[in-house]
Amino acid sequence: ARTVGRDAAGALHVGGVAVADLAATYGTPLFVVDELDFRTRAVAFRDAFADAFADLCGGADVYYASKAFTATGVTRWIAADGLHLDTASAGELELGLRGGVPPARIALHGNNKSRREIVRALEVGVGRIVVDSPAEIDVIADLARERGVVAPVMLRVTVGVEAHTHQYIATAHEDQKFGVSLASGQAEAAVARILARPELRLLGLHSHIGSQIFDLGGFEVSARRLLELHHKVERDHGVELPELDLGGGYGVAYTSEDAPLAPTEIAGRLAEIVARECLVQGIAVPRVSVEPGRAIAAPSTFTLYEVGTTKEVELDGGTRRRYVSVDGGMSDNIRTALYGADYSATVASRASTAPGVLSRVVGKHCESGDVVVRDEFLPEDLGGGDLLAVPGTGAYCRSMASNYNQLPRPGVVAVRDGSATVLVRRETPEDLLALDAG
Ligand code: LLP
Repeated sequence: ARTVGRDAAGALHVGGVAVADLAATYGTPLFVVDELDFRTRAVAFRDAFADAFADLCGGADVYYASKAFTATGVTRWIAADGLHLDTASAGELELGLRGGVPPARIALHGNNKSRREIVRALEVGVGRIVVDSPAEIDVIADLARERGVVAPVMLRVTVGVEAHTHQYIATAHEDQKFGVSLASGQAEAAVARILARPELRLLGLHSHIGSQIFDLGGFEVSARRLLELHHKVERDHGVELPELDLGGGYGVAYTSEDAPLAPTEIAGRLAEIVARECLVQGIAVPRVSVEPGRAIAAPSTFTLYEVGTTKEVELDGGTRRRYVSVDGGMSDNIRTALYGADYSATVASRASTAPGVLSRVVGKHCESGDVVVRDEFLPEDLGGGDLLAVPGTGAYCRSMASNYNQLPRPGVVAVRDGSATVLVRRETPEDLLALDAG
């Protein structure tokens, strides 16, 4: 559903708006969200899961993971399009509420929720609080009792599946901070503690195995282990667990080498897996939910930069590399430096027939690891004032942005049908100075 194209002069436009106009109006760097693309993707996940699970458990719920990127404008789309919302802090929760997402459709996560966050979740009546550790059980239960409410909870289980990009290792990945370990029996003990507190209503089990995953095999192992525990809990405690959450993590194409799965493929496979495991266990199929963030947000957005200085270096063997500096960098996209992520770049302001030169797109920060795009062939005549677009930056870029070197964080605009709407205003130097105690 992407609405990106080029005009006769080769200049990029998106949502019916020329990028040069966006740069002139909102400045650069700028995150440009193709609203229709974001929403079409969100709805595609919603419908694919509703359809694939319709006969099994009356449908499945898709929680958009706010951490990928959120703003009131985004949660308004989520609310209007009938998705659920995954939040991992009071701040993300607040944006969900501001956008009108019904609290019953909101989940609160976090391995170290503050009392304030739990209280807020209870006060507004979120649909689920995901218990991440045994230590939280009594805290949530006590806060619920003080307020005379019953807290709907899920238990995040560490299922022992380590998922990496392009692969998963079905061995115990216990040595990390999230969730309650299944293999050690801690998850079962936590279930018993939850069930012993009348202020808590256990909806079911939850697992999130990783991010940027292309191989659904990891979900198969995870679902099997979750449903085994699910069955055991129902049998041993004589309760019914109405829900099951399989987390998010579906991969997107950052470069042409990645081949993402379609929502219908993902939903279809997961439905098969859940159906088979429930049959094996002889249990009723719980209502399934998932939490994609990246797969909805990342492809919808590009970052628009203005090129500044360039320089060429000679590499061993005589090849040359050109460094193309842009007016942002690791403060608006830390993913290249932090995870070795791959991005691409394209000249946005004009066409060029000049030959391509091996280029590295770098930022303006004071360290050499400040790379946005490691390798890209960009036209030889690229220079100061040209606009560069880096696609696929809708997830975990603006949401992980920093003010390193006292750089104001970029704004985010949504474009659609020829007009642009600000989702997040660009920070100003005055905003930063206002935080300084002087
Ligand atoms: N559910 C839970 C409980 C999660 O922890 C996450 C992501 C998601 C859902 C959404 O996962 P997604 O569908 O977006 O892969 N900053 C990293 C990614 C961190 C993911 C954290 N949790 C990056 O830029 O690659």
